[in-house]
Amino acid sequence: MTRPEHVTDPSQPPRYAVIGHPVAHSLSPRIHAAFGRQTGIALEYVAIDATPERFADALDAFAARGGVGANVTLPHKARAAALCTALSERAQRAGAVNTLLRVGNEWHGDNTDGVGLVRDLTERHGLDLRGRRTLLIGAGGAARGVAPALLDAGIGDLYIVNRTAERADALADALGQPGRVHPRYLDDVGAIGSFDLIVNATSASRDAALPPLAGTLVAPRAAAVDLSYGEVAIPFLAWARAAGAREAVDGLGMLVEQAAESFLRWHGVRPETDAVYALLRERDDTLVTAD
Ligand code: ATR
Repeated sequence: MTRPEHVTDPSQPPRYAVIGHPVAHSLSPRIHAAFGRQTGIALEYVAIDATPERFADALDAFAARGGVGANVTLPHKARAAALCTALSERAQRAGAVNTLLRVGNEWHGDNTDGVGLVRDLTERHGLDLRGRRTLLIGAGGAARGVAPALLDAGIGDLYIVNRTAERADALADALGQPGRVHPRYLDDVGAIGSFDLIVNATSASRDAALPPLAGTLVAPRAAAVDLSYGEVAIPFLAWARAAGAREAVDGLGMLVEQAAESFLRWHGVRPETDAVYALLRERDDTLVTAD
């Protein structure tokens, strides 16, 4: 197995990390360790807690210790995009980065969240996304990460609502498809019909503050997706089920799939994900935070 060229010290296993705040409960170290075992690739992968103010310094310190790649999670995805010297096309479109690669003395950014979500929905859950009238709730880093991939996957019209309306407008503008993407006020959400796919990309449930949502938003046979997993995903998915959604999917599968895509970027091999997903799902009662 040849190492990627950005790995500089051949005597050490390459160092990777997930950087977030909070990050202590992140499953990413376990996922990447499992992928490493499965593929026979030696690696170190740790969790680094950094407040927004400390994010850039924490990343510098990690690079100084030999860090060659990192996942970026809440609340740093937009901040990470801003400090990269190069962005993949999908990270550029998202304006958010979840995967960093060290190249020389610089960080390059990618975003594997969207492709991870689409892969989980279409391949693991067998959903056909094409033509689905879609409601995206939230316009922060998580929403930005998944919106381009959902459009690419062939959904129908995309409506975006957000507590702060300007951010919904900005995301809709950035997506650049005005005939297909429609920002709306959260207060008006009850008046825009029903949806075949509803994606909760807010961090509101982590604060037990899910915005009030009318059951009429859920079309017959709709799928509802919360990008979080564990306890924080429960209120939204319970609402969706009660409103008649046929599928209620949490973000655990997306987490595993985005990790596999990051692994592919770093190591040149895409690991098999089903066994890791099944293992984490078995221990679902231990899942308490989003990643
Ligand atoms: P993330 O990476 O999780 O997207 P973020 O960029 O801080 O993190 O975005 C959080 C999202 O959750 C935003 O859409 C935010 O709405 P605002 O743009 O108005 O801040 C949304 N959110 C967070 N707490 C919320 C709450 N209590 N009610 C409604 N929306 C909330």
